[in-house]
Amino acid sequence: MSNEPGREQWASRLGFILAAMGSAVGLGNVWRFSYVTGENGGAAFLLIYMAFIIIIGIPIIMAEFTIGRKAQSDAVGSFEKLAPGKPWKVAGLLGVAAAFLILSFYGVIAGWITYYFTNYLTGTLWSAPAEGYESFFISFITNPTKPFFWQFLFMALTVAIVFVGVKKGIERSNKILMPLLGVLLIVLSIYSLTLGGAQKGLAFLFTPDWTALTDPNIYLAALGQAFFSLSLGMGALITYGSYLSNQERLPGAAVSVAVLDTSFAIVAGLMIFPAVFALGMDPASGPGLVFMVMPDVFDSIGFGGIFGLLFFFLLAAAALSSSVSLLEVAVAYFIRKFSWSRQKASLIIGSIIFVIGIPSSLGQGVLSDIQIIGGRDILDSIDFIASNIFLPLGGLIIALFMGWGFKKADALRDSDFGETTLGHIWLFLIKFVAPIFIFLVFLSSIGLFN
Ligand code: PFF
Repeated sequence: MSNEPGREQWASRLGFILAAMGSAVGLGNVWRFSYVTGENGGAAFLLIYMAFIIIIGIPIIMAEFTIGRKAQSDAVGSFEKLAPGKPWKVAGLLGVAAAFLILSFYGVIAGWITYYFTNYLTGTLWSAPAEGYESFFISFITNPTKPFFWQFLFMALTVAIVFVGVKKGIERSNKILMPLLGVLLIVLSIYSLTLGGAQKGLAFLFTPDWTALTDPNIYLAALGQAFFSLSLGMGALITYGSYLSNQERLPGAAVSVAVLDTSFAIVAGLMIFPAVFALGMDPASGPGLVFMVMPDVFDSIGFGGIFGLLFFFLLAAAALSSSVSLLEVAVAYFIRKFSWSRQKASLIIGSIIFVIGIPSSLGQGVLSDIQIIGGRDILDSIDFIASNIFLPLGGLIIALFMGWGFKKADALRDSDFGETTLGHIWLFLIKFVAPIFIFLVFLSSIGLFN
Protein backbone atom coordinates (compact mmCIF):
# COMPACT_ATOMS: atom_id res chain seq x y z
CA MET A 1 0.00 0.00 0.00
CA SER A 2 1.29 3.42 -0.78
CA ASN A 3 1.93 5.82 2.01
CA GLU A 4 -0.23 8.93 2.27
CA PRO A 5 1.91 12.05 1.89
CA GLY A 6 3.22 13.57 5.09
CA ARG A 7 2.54 10.51 7.26
CA GLU A 8 4.99 9.70 9.97
CA GLN A 9 6.75 6.44 10.68
CA TRP A 10 8.09 5.14 13.96
CA ALA A 11 11.74 5.98 14.37
CA SER A 12 12.65 2.46 15.40
CA ARG A 13 11.25 -1.02 15.70
CA LEU A 14 11.15 -0.62 19.46
CA GLY A 15 9.30 2.67 19.04
CA PHE A 16 6.17 0.93 17.82
CA ILE A 17 6.07 -1.69 20.57
CA LEU A 18 6.71 0.92 23.22
CA ALA A 19 3.98 3.16 21.89
CA ALA A 20 1.47 0.31 21.72
CA MET A 21 2.39 -0.71 25.25
CA GLY A 22 2.21 2.91 26.35
CA SER A 23 -1.28 3.10 24.93
CA ALA A 24 -2.38 -0.10 26.65
CA VAL A 25 -0.89 0.57 30.06
CA GLY A 26 -2.67 3.44 31.74
CA LEU A 27 -5.52 4.26 34.08
CA GLY A 28 -7.28 1.17 32.79
CA ASN A 29 -4.81 -1.08 34.58
CA VAL A 30 -4.86 0.60 37.94
CA TRP A 31 -7.84 2.90 38.39
CA ARG A 32 -10.40 1.07 36.23
CA PHE A 33 -9.21 -2.50 36.70
CA SER A 34 -9.25 -2.25 40.47
CA TYR A 35 -12.65 -0.71 40.89
CA VAL A 36 -14.36 -2.79 38.19
CA THR A 37 -12.87 -5.98 39.63
CA GLY A 38 -13.96 -4.83 43.08
CA GLU A 39 -17.50 -4.15 41.93
CA ASN A 40 -17.80 -7.47 40.11
CA GLY A 41 -16.80 -9.71 42.95
CA GLY A 42 -13.12 -10.33 42.24
CA ALA A 43 -11.81 -13.73 41.17
CA ALA A 44 -14.66 -14.90 38.90
CA PHE A 45 -14.47 -11.60 37.07
CA LEU A 46 -10.70 -11.83 36.77
CA LEU A 47 -10.97 -15.31 35.31
CA ILE A 48 -13.41 -14.26 32.61
CA TYR A 49 -11.41 -11.13 31.91
CA MET A 50 -8.27 -13.17 31.31
CA ALA A 51 -10.08 -15.73 29.18
CA PHE A 52 -11.43 -12.90 27.02
CA ILE A 53 -7.96 -11.46 26.61
CA ILE A 54 -6.70 -14.77 25.26
CA ILE A 55 -9.54 -15.78 22.97
CA ILE A 56 -10.76 -12.34 21.90
CA GLY A 57 -8.19 -9.70 22.84
CA ILE A 58 -4.97 -11.06 21.36
CA PRO A 59 -6.58 -12.15 18.07
CA ILE A 60 -8.12 -8.69 17.60
CA ILE A 61 -4.89 -6.90 18.51
CA MET A 62 -3.31 -8.93 15.70
CA ALA A 63 -6.13 -7.93 13.37
CA GLU A 64 -5.74 -4.22 14.18
CA PHE A 65 -1.97 -4.31 13.70
CA THR A 66 -2.33 -6.18 10.42
CA ILE A 67 -5.00 -3.86 9.04
CA GLY A 68 -3.11 -0.72 10.07
CA ARG A 69 0.23 -1.76 8.70
CA LYS A 70 -1.24 -2.95 5.43
CA ALA A 71 -3.41 0.09 4.82
CA GLN A 72 -1.04 2.74 6.19
CA SER A 73 -3.99 4.93 7.07
CA ASP A 74 -6.13 5.96 10.05
CA ALA A 75 -8.95 4.03 11.75
CA VAL A 76 -11.51 4.91 9.08
CA GLY A 77 -9.21 5.33 6.08
CA SER A 78 -7.74 1.88 6.57
CA PHE A 79 -11.09 0.25 5.89
CA GLU A 80 -11.79 2.58 2.96
CA LYS A 81 -8.48 1.68 1.44
CA LEU A 82 -8.66 -2.07 1.92
CA ALA A 83 -12.37 -2.43 1.10
CA PRO A 84 -13.46 0.60 -0.92
CA GLY A 85 -17.18 1.22 -0.98
CA LYS A 86 -17.92 -1.45 1.61
CA PRO A 87 -19.56 -0.73 4.98
CA TRP A 88 -16.66 -2.03 7.13
CA LYS A 89 -15.55 1.49 7.85
CA VAL A 90 -18.36 1.87 10.41
CA ALA A 91 -15.90 0.15 12.74
CA GLY A 92 -13.54 3.08 12.23
CA LEU A 93 -16.28 5.67 12.65
CA LEU A 94 -17.42 3.97 15.86
CA GLY A 95 -13.80 4.05 16.92
CA VAL A 96 -13.44 7.77 16.34
CA ALA A 97 -16.65 8.33 18.31
CA ALA A 98 -15.32 6.10 21.10
CA ALA A 99 -12.07 8.09 21.16
CA PHE A 100 -14.02 11.30 21.78
CA LEU A 101 -16.10 9.69 24.52
CA ILE A 102 -13.32 7.83 26.30
CA LEU A 103 -10.85 10.68 26.27
CA SER A 104 -13.54 13.03 27.58
CA PHE A 105 -13.74 11.20 30.92
CA TYR A 106 -10.18 9.88 30.82
CA GLY A 107 -9.07 13.50 31.01
CA VAL A 108 -11.21 13.99 34.11
CA ILE A 109 -9.76 11.02 36.00
CA ALA A 110 -6.23 11.78 34.84
CA GLY A 111 -6.83 15.30 36.13
CA TRP A 112 -7.63 13.85 39.57
CA ILE A 113 -4.39 11.85 39.40
CA THR A 114 -2.44 14.98 38.51
CA TYR A 115 -4.07 16.83 41.40
CA TYR A 116 -3.01 14.09 43.79
CA PHE A 117 0.50 14.20 42.38
CA THR A 118 0.77 17.92 43.13
CA ASN A 119 -0.60 17.35 46.62
CA TYR A 120 2.20 14.89 47.26
CA LEU A 121 4.61 17.35 45.76
CA THR A 122 3.59 20.08 48.19
CA GLY A 123 3.40 17.63 51.08
CA THR A 124 -0.33 18.16 51.73
CA LEU A 125 -1.13 14.45 51.58
CA TRP A 126 1.96 13.15 53.34
CA SER A 127 -0.18 12.77 56.42
CA ALA A 128 -3.95 12.46 56.62
CA PRO A 129 -5.81 15.75 56.25
CA ALA A 130 -8.04 16.67 59.21
CA GLU A 131 -11.16 15.38 57.50
CA GLY A 132 -9.45 12.10 56.45
CA TYR A 133 -8.38 10.88 53.02
CA GLU A 134 -11.85 9.79 51.96
CA SER A 135 -13.52 13.13 52.63
CA PHE A 136 -10.59 14.93 51.06
CA PHE A 137 -11.21 12.99 47.86
CA ILE A 138 -14.97 13.50 47.91
CA SER A 139 -14.75 17.20 48.58
CA PHE A 140 -12.28 17.56 45.70
CA ILE A 141 -14.29 15.69 43.06
CA THR A 142 -17.58 17.29 44.10
CA ASN A 143 -16.11 20.78 43.93
CA PRO A 144 -17.84 22.58 41.03
CA THR A 145 -14.71 24.20 39.58
CA LYS A 146 -11.47 22.82 40.99
CA PRO A 147 -11.25 19.56 39.00
CA PHE A 148 -11.57 21.52 35.71
CA PHE A 149 -8.21 23.08 36.15
CA TRP A 150 -6.52 19.70 36.43
CA GLN A 151 -8.57 18.20 33.63
CA PHE A 152 -7.60 21.17 31.49
CA LEU A 153 -3.93 20.85 32.38
CA PHE A 154 -3.87 17.18 31.55
CA MET A 155 -5.71 17.68 28.25
CA ALA A 156 -3.32 20.53 27.38
CA LEU A 157 -0.37 18.18 27.90
CA THR A 158 -2.03 15.54 25.73
CA VAL A 159 -2.67 18.08 22.97
CA ALA A 160 0.90 19.36 23.19
CA ILE A 161 2.33 15.90 22.57
CA VAL A 162 -0.01 15.07 19.69
CA PHE A 163 0.61 18.55 18.29
CA VAL A 164 4.33 17.83 18.01
CA GLY A 165 3.73 14.41 16.46
CA VAL A 166 3.59 10.82 17.49
CA LYS A 167 7.14 9.87 16.75
CA LYS A 168 8.95 12.53 18.70
CA GLY A 169 6.49 12.66 21.53
CA ILE A 170 6.02 9.17 22.83
CA GLU A 171 8.98 6.99 22.16
CA ARG A 172 11.31 8.53 24.70
CA SER A 173 9.43 8.83 27.95
CA ASN A 174 7.87 5.37 27.75
CA LYS A 175 11.21 3.72 27.74
CA ILE A 176 11.98 4.92 31.25
CA LEU A 177 8.72 5.70 33.01
CA MET A 178 6.74 2.57 32.22
CA PRO A 179 9.33 0.16 33.66
CA LEU A 180 9.57 2.42 36.69
CA LEU A 181 5.83 2.22 37.21
CA GLY A 182 6.05 -1.56 36.93
CA VAL A 183 8.75 -1.74 39.58
CA LEU A 184 6.86 0.61 41.88
CA LEU A 185 3.65 -1.42 41.61
CA ILE A 186 5.55 -4.59 42.44
CA VAL A 187 7.19 -3.00 45.48
CA LEU A 188 3.86 -1.61 46.66
CA SER A 189 2.09 -4.92 46.20
CA ILE A 190 4.71 -6.71 48.28
CA TYR A 191 4.25 -4.08 50.98
CA SER A 192 0.48 -4.24 50.73
CA LEU A 193 0.61 -7.98 51.32
CA THR A 194 2.23 -7.34 54.73
CA LEU A 195 -0.57 -5.12 55.99
CA GLY A 196 -2.73 -7.88 57.42
CA GLY A 197 -5.27 -8.17 54.63
CA ALA A 198 -3.21 -10.54 52.48
CA GLN A 199 -5.33 -13.62 53.01
CA LYS A 200 -8.63 -11.92 52.28
CA GLY A 201 -7.15 -9.90 49.44
CA LEU A 202 -5.67 -12.94 47.73
CA ALA A 203 -8.84 -14.96 48.22
CA PHE A 204 -10.88 -12.13 46.76
CA LEU A 205 -8.65 -11.98 43.70
CA PHE A 206 -7.95 -15.66 43.10
CA THR A 207 -10.66 -17.85 44.67
CA PRO A 208 -13.68 -17.58 42.40
CA ASP A 209 -17.21 -17.60 43.64
CA TRP A 210 -18.51 -19.88 40.89
CA THR A 211 -22.11 -18.79 41.32
CA ALA A 212 -21.04 -15.38 40.04
CA LEU A 213 -20.54 -17.00 36.62
CA THR A 214 -24.30 -17.04 36.12
CA ASP A 215 -24.47 -13.27 36.20
CA PRO A 216 -24.43 -11.87 32.64
CA ASN A 217 -23.31 -8.45 33.87
CA ILE A 218 -19.92 -9.85 34.80
CA TYR A 219 -19.30 -10.97 31.23
CA LEU A 220 -20.13 -7.57 29.78
CA ALA A 221 -17.99 -5.83 32.39
CA ALA A 222 -15.07 -8.21 31.73
CA LEU A 223 -15.38 -7.75 27.98
CA GLY A 224 -15.44 -3.97 28.30
CA GLN A 225 -12.49 -4.02 30.68
CA ALA A 226 -10.47 -6.25 28.33
CA PHE A 227 -11.08 -3.92 25.39
CA PHE A 228 -10.48 -0.77 27.40
CA SER A 229 -7.29 -2.00 28.96
CA LEU A 230 -5.84 -3.30 25.69
CA SER A 231 -6.80 -0.07 23.83
CA LEU A 232 -8.78 -2.32 21.54
CA GLY A 233 -11.75 -2.08 19.23
CA MET A 234 -11.47 1.57 18.25
CA GLY A 235 -8.63 1.63 15.79
CA ALA A 236 -5.97 2.98 18.16
CA LEU A 237 -3.84 0.00 17.27
CA ILE A 238 -4.78 0.31 13.59
CA THR A 239 -3.57 3.89 13.72
CA TYR A 240 -0.35 2.96 15.50
CA GLY A 241 0.17 -0.02 13.18
CA SER A 242 -0.13 2.35 10.25
CA TYR A 243 3.03 4.19 11.28
CA LEU A 244 4.85 0.91 10.95
CA SER A 245 7.02 -0.25 8.12
CA ASN A 246 7.36 -3.88 7.23
CA GLN A 247 10.11 -5.03 9.54
CA GLU A 248 8.06 -5.72 12.64
CA ARG A 249 6.90 -9.27 13.45
CA LEU A 250 3.31 -8.64 14.42
CA PRO A 251 2.38 -11.77 16.42
CA GLY A 252 5.24 -11.27 18.87
CA ALA A 253 4.29 -7.63 19.29
CA ALA A 254 0.63 -8.45 19.91
CA VAL A 255 1.36 -11.07 22.55
CA SER A 256 3.89 -8.82 24.30
CA VAL A 257 1.40 -5.99 24.55
CA ALA A 258 -1.30 -8.26 25.98
CA VAL A 259 0.99 -10.00 28.45
CA LEU A 260 2.48 -6.76 29.70
CA ASP A 261 -0.88 -5.05 30.02
CA THR A 262 -2.43 -7.95 31.91
CA SER A 263 0.58 -8.24 34.21
CA PHE A 264 0.24 -4.58 35.13
CA ALA A 265 -3.41 -5.13 35.99
CA ILE A 266 -2.76 -8.19 38.14
CA VAL A 267 0.05 -6.51 40.04
CA ALA A 268 -2.20 -3.50 40.58
CA GLY A 269 -4.81 -5.90 41.97
CA LEU A 270 -2.22 -7.38 44.32
CA MET A 271 -1.43 -3.88 45.48
CA ILE A 272 -5.01 -2.71 46.03
CA PHE A 273 -7.03 -5.60 47.40
CA PRO A 274 -4.90 -6.71 50.35
CA ALA A 275 -4.84 -3.04 51.38
CA VAL A 276 -8.60 -2.71 50.89
CA PHE A 277 -9.19 -5.55 53.33
CA ALA A 278 -6.49 -4.43 55.75
CA LEU A 279 -8.20 -1.03 55.92
CA GLY A 280 -11.64 -2.58 56.28
CA MET A 281 -12.93 -0.94 53.12
CA ASP A 282 -15.50 -2.19 50.66
CA PRO A 283 -13.91 -3.46 47.42
CA ALA A 284 -17.06 -2.30 45.62
CA SER A 285 -16.51 1.36 46.54
CA GLY A 286 -16.53 2.44 42.89
CA PRO A 287 -14.30 4.74 40.84
CA GLY A 288 -12.80 6.41 43.90
CA LEU A 289 -11.22 3.17 45.15
CA VAL A 290 -7.57 3.91 44.27
CA PHE A 291 -7.84 7.47 45.53
CA MET A 292 -9.26 6.40 48.86
CA VAL A 293 -7.09 3.35 49.51
CA MET A 294 -3.60 4.25 48.35
CA PRO A 295 -3.05 7.44 50.39
CA ASP A 296 -3.73 5.42 53.55
CA VAL A 297 -1.19 2.86 52.40
CA PHE A 298 1.44 5.55 51.79
CA ASP A 299 0.65 7.07 55.14
CA SER A 300 1.52 3.81 56.85
CA ILE A 301 5.02 3.75 55.34
CA GLY A 302 7.77 5.88 56.90
CA PHE A 303 8.38 8.69 54.38
CA GLY A 304 5.58 7.12 52.39
CA GLY A 305 4.89 10.48 50.80
CA ILE A 306 7.77 9.73 48.45
CA PHE A 307 5.91 6.64 47.30
CA GLY A 308 2.74 8.67 46.90
CA LEU A 309 4.60 11.20 44.83
CA LEU A 310 6.13 8.55 42.59
CA PHE A 311 2.90 6.60 42.31
CA PHE A 312 0.78 9.50 41.13
CA PHE A 313 3.54 10.88 38.92
CA LEU A 314 4.15 7.59 37.13
CA LEU A 315 0.44 6.92 36.85
CA ALA A 316 -0.08 10.35 35.31
CA ALA A 317 2.72 9.61 32.85
CA ALA A 318 1.14 6.25 31.97
CA ALA A 319 -2.21 7.99 31.53
CA LEU A 320 -0.58 10.50 29.23
CA SER A 321 0.78 7.92 26.81
CA SER A 322 -2.72 6.39 26.71
CA SER A 323 -4.54 9.69 26.26
CA VAL A 324 -2.14 10.57 23.46
CA SER A 325 -3.18 7.41 21.61
CA LEU A 326 -6.85 8.24 22.15
CA LEU A 327 -6.44 11.72 20.74
CA GLU A 328 -4.27 10.38 17.91
CA VAL A 329 -7.15 8.21 16.64
CA ALA A 330 -9.35 11.25 16.14
CA VAL A 331 -6.57 13.57 14.99
CA ALA A 332 -5.23 11.15 12.37
CA TYR A 333 -8.74 10.84 10.96
CA PHE A 334 -9.37 14.57 10.78
CA ILE A 335 -5.95 15.29 9.27
CA ARG A 336 -6.68 13.00 6.35
CA LYS A 337 -10.39 13.59 5.97
CA PHE A 338 -10.36 17.38 6.11
CA SER A 339 -6.75 18.01 5.14
CA TRP A 340 -6.18 19.81 8.43
CA SER A 341 -2.68 20.27 9.71
CA ARG A 342 -1.69 18.13 12.67
CA GLN A 343 -1.50 21.28 14.77
CA LYS A 344 -4.97 22.49 13.87
CA ALA A 345 -6.50 19.05 14.35
CA SER A 346 -4.97 18.48 17.77
CA LEU A 347 -5.97 21.90 19.07
CA ILE A 348 -9.55 21.81 17.82
CA ILE A 349 -10.28 18.21 18.70
CA GLY A 350 -8.52 18.42 22.05
CA SER A 351 -10.66 21.43 22.95
CA ILE A 352 -13.89 19.75 21.91
CA ILE A 353 -13.05 16.67 23.96
CA PHE A 354 -12.23 18.80 26.98
CA VAL A 355 -15.68 20.39 26.74
CA ILE A 356 -17.42 17.04 26.31
CA GLY A 357 -15.70 15.96 29.54
CA ILE A 358 -17.13 18.79 31.60
CA PRO A 359 -20.46 17.08 32.42
CA SER A 360 -18.55 13.97 33.57
CA SER A 361 -16.68 16.12 36.02
CA LEU A 362 -19.79 17.99 37.19
CA GLY A 363 -21.62 14.69 37.54
CA GLN A 364 -19.60 13.98 40.68
CA GLY A 365 -21.03 17.01 42.43
CA VAL A 366 -23.59 19.51 41.23
CA LEU A 367 -24.98 17.16 38.58
CA SER A 368 -24.84 14.01 40.69
CA ASP A 369 -28.62 13.63 40.52
CA ILE A 370 -28.40 12.93 36.82
CA GLN A 371 -28.28 9.23 36.20
CA ILE A 372 -28.34 7.93 32.68
CA ILE A 373 -27.75 4.21 32.40
CA GLY A 374 -28.98 1.95 35.20
CA GLY A 375 -28.22 4.27 38.11
CA ARG A 376 -24.84 5.30 36.72
CA ASP A 377 -23.71 8.89 36.96
CA ILE A 378 -22.68 10.82 33.84
CA LEU A 379 -19.04 9.69 33.82
CA ASP A 380 -19.93 6.05 34.43
CA SER A 381 -22.63 6.12 31.77
CA ILE A 382 -20.29 7.50 29.12
CA ASP A 383 -17.69 4.95 30.15
CA PHE A 384 -20.31 2.19 29.91
CA ILE A 385 -21.48 3.18 26.44
CA ALA A 386 -17.97 3.66 25.06
CA SER A 387 -16.13 0.80 26.75
CA ASN A 388 -18.77 -1.89 27.11
CA ILE A 389 -20.69 -1.25 23.89
CA PHE A 390 -18.68 0.72 21.31
CA LEU A 391 -15.33 -1.01 21.83
CA PRO A 392 -16.59 -4.61 21.71
CA LEU A 393 -18.87 -3.72 18.79
CA GLY A 394 -15.93 -2.16 16.95
CA GLY A 395 -13.90 -5.26 17.82
CA LEU A 396 -16.64 -7.51 16.48
CA ILE A 397 -16.64 -5.72 13.13
CA ILE A 398 -12.83 -5.71 12.97
CA ALA A 399 -12.79 -9.47 13.66
CA LEU A 400 -15.38 -10.13 10.97
CA PHE A 401 -13.49 -7.95 8.51
CA MET A 402 -10.22 -9.75 9.14
CA GLY A 403 -11.78 -13.20 9.26
CA TRP A 404 -14.24 -12.96 6.40
CA GLY A 405 -13.24 -9.89 4.37
CA PHE A 406 -9.67 -11.12 3.76
CA LYS A 407 -8.59 -14.08 1.69
CA LYS A 408 -7.11 -16.70 3.97
CA ALA A 409 -3.71 -16.59 2.31
CA ASP A 410 -3.61 -12.79 2.45
CA ALA A 411 -4.55 -12.70 6.13
CA LEU A 412 -1.84 -15.21 6.98
CA ARG A 413 0.78 -13.37 4.96
CA ASP A 414 -0.12 -9.83 6.03
CA SER A 415 -0.13 -10.81 9.70
CA ASP A 416 3.38 -12.37 9.41
CA PHE A 417 1.98 -15.72 10.60
CA GLY A 418 2.41 -17.41 7.27
CA GLU A 419 1.14 -20.97 6.88
CA THR A 420 1.74 -21.95 10.50
CA THR A 421 -0.44 -23.78 12.99
CA LEU A 422 -0.58 -20.66 15.13
CA GLY A 423 -1.71 -18.72 12.10
CA HIS A 424 -4.58 -21.12 11.55
CA ILE A 425 -5.55 -21.02 15.20
CA TRP A 426 -5.58 -17.23 14.99
CA LEU A 427 -7.82 -17.33 11.92
CA PHE A 428 -10.19 -19.70 13.66
CA LEU A 429 -10.38 -17.43 16.70
CA ILE A 430 -10.88 -14.30 14.65
CA LYS A 431 -13.43 -15.86 12.28
CA PHE A 432 -15.57 -17.72 14.76
CA VAL A 433 -14.65 -17.62 18.41
CA ALA A 434 -14.17 -13.89 18.99
CA PRO A 435 -17.26 -12.77 17.04
CA ILE A 436 -19.49 -15.44 18.55
CA PHE A 437 -18.41 -14.70 22.10
CA ILE A 438 -18.84 -10.96 21.71
CA PHE A 439 -22.24 -11.55 20.20
CA LEU A 440 -23.28 -13.90 23.02
CA VAL A 441 -22.14 -11.46 25.68
CA PHE A 442 -24.21 -8.73 24.07
CA LEU A 443 -27.21 -11.04 23.79
CA SER A 444 -27.01 -12.26 27.36
CA SER A 445 -26.72 -8.78 28.70
CA ILE A 446 -29.95 -7.67 27.11
CA GLY A 447 -31.57 -10.41 29.10
CA LEU A 448 -32.38 -12.89 26.36
CA PHE A 449 -30.60 -15.77 28.01
CA ASN A 450 -31.81 -15.56 31.54
N1 PFF B 1 -5.77 1.29 27.45
C1 PFF B 1 -5.83 2.54 28.13
C2 PFF B 1 -5.77 2.28 29.62
O1 PFF B 1 -5.79 1.12 30.03
O2 PFF B 1 -5.71 3.22 30.39
C3 PFF B 1 -7.06 3.33 27.76
C4 PFF B 1 -7.29 3.42 26.28
C5 PFF B 1 -6.33 3.98 25.45
C6 PFF B 1 -8.44 2.85 25.73
C7 PFF B 1 -6.53 4.00 24.07
C8 PFF B 1 -8.63 2.88 24.37
C9 PFF B 1 -7.67 3.44 23.56
F1 PFF B 1 -7.84 3.46 22.28
